[in-house]
Amino acid sequence: MGGKLKVFSVLVSLFAVTAMIASCAGPTPSPTPTVSSPTPTVSSPTPPPPEVNALTVYHWWTSGGEKAAIDALIKVYATKYPDAAIMQTPVTGGAGFTMMGIIKTLVLAGDAPDAFQMHAGYEGKPYFDAGLLDPIDNLWKEEGLEAVIPEVVRHMCQFDGHYYSVPVNIHRVNVVWYNKSLLDKNGIDPTTLTTWDAFFAACDKLKAGGVQYPIQMGEAWTAAHAFEQIMASMGIDFYQDLINGKITSADDPKLSQALEIFKKYLGYVNPDHAALTWDDATKRIITGDGAFNIMGDWANGEFYVAKMTYGEDYGTFAVPGTQGMYGLCIDVFQHPKGVKHPTNSLGWLKVVASKEGQDAFNPIKGSIAARTDADISKYGPYQQSAIADFKAAKYMFPSVVHGSGAPESFKVKLSDIISGFTTDLDVSKAAQALTSYTKEISGEYTIQWSLK
Ligand code: BGC
Repeated sequence: MGGKLKVFSVLVSLFAVTAMIASCAGPTPSPTPTVSSPTPTVSSPTPPPPEVNALTVYHWWTSGGEKAAIDALIKVYATKYPDAAIMQTPVTGGAGFTMMGIIKTLVLAGDAPDAFQMHAGYEGKPYFDAGLLDPIDNLWKEEGLEAVIPEVVRHMCQFDGHYYSVPVNIHRVNVVWYNKSLLDKNGIDPTTLTTWDAFFAACDKLKAGGVQYPIQMGEAWTAAHAFEQIMASMGIDFYQDLINGKITSADDPKLSQALEIFKKYLGYVNPDHAALTWDDATKRIITGDGAFNIMGDWANGEFYVAKMTYGEDYGTFAVPGTQGMYGLCIDVFQHPKGVKHPTNSLGWLKVVASKEGQDAFNPIKGSIAARTDADISKYGPYQQSAIADFKAAKYMFPSVVHGSGAPESFKVKLSDIISGFTTDLDVSKAAQALTSYTKEISGEYTIQWSLK
């Protein structure tokens, strides 16, 4: 693996715990959408009494591709542990923005589910700081995980040198998805779209060719997701400073440049974006209502269920300016203290970390396995190219919007500020808000990242 990424000096932070407790008044507040937000739903089965041999699992995998993927993983668990009743609680709301608030409430009330989805990196930190997670070093040892999980991922599953989670996958976030026939029809060669200028010129061509909104985007967090990739395109030094809490001047030229690019980008975006889920926006690339969508590679799962062929019906390229970079979003599960079914909870972690589990889940999900010994023949052409890119990556960077790179309060604030920006397009206001918030929460930046 070419990319280097290390996590230094994880410090215990009371700020993080306080922030977590404060946010337990209810679900994590959703940034105010500009139109109307897709309504989150929680389809919760009645919790089983503790004496029932059950496994309770919370996750936010509710789109077509995501559901097919989690079903495949659950099938592996059911085969290995046939006596356990599996009680899934899928919570709608992409990127976990809705589910995180629900989980915090449950965990702090001493009612943690046996397993719940989370992201590697910062997202688990408040739970660790509050002493709510059990270390799982033994499980890592017994399952021989250190030998098969890349170093970059291992670091992100640790706090204070101990393992607190197991990864099920590695998603890439800096991906542009495109509708191939629209690009062909308009004479656009996707391999040339390596700069923002070239990308916007292609958008102009598409508009001239009758594609009214060449870029499709969804609700607030997907706008923040796109902006995060634009920030990564400003270079690894800038991104590293961002996640280490060092972009504190509202006049920072790269921050302003990123906002200017995003402003231009929004000029090509569907005006109803705030009312769409991420997968609604991806579907518009599938149907040819739009040409481009910046999204993590869970989008591949939607193309998969729509039976689209990679290279023929759709394709991908790295977000302009991020060639050779691999933006990381890693789904993990952990072992909360005091769960009702600890043996089943550990069994779930073993399945999640296993070759069999990962090779059942990831080929559908769009991610690559977190394990280096995955059976590549089970993965489609998009993922095979992602595996090659991961190995060759010059730099890896942890996603902020997907919980890894920066404190959670920053992630929520970023989404909020960017949501406002999509309507007022005020560069200096957004730069001011982002940098003053970074200063305000300086004590929460307890992980120092080294991305080079
Ligand atoms: C998760 C993915 C999920 C996506 C959309 C990301 O934060 O890591 O597993 O598919 O959100 O909900």
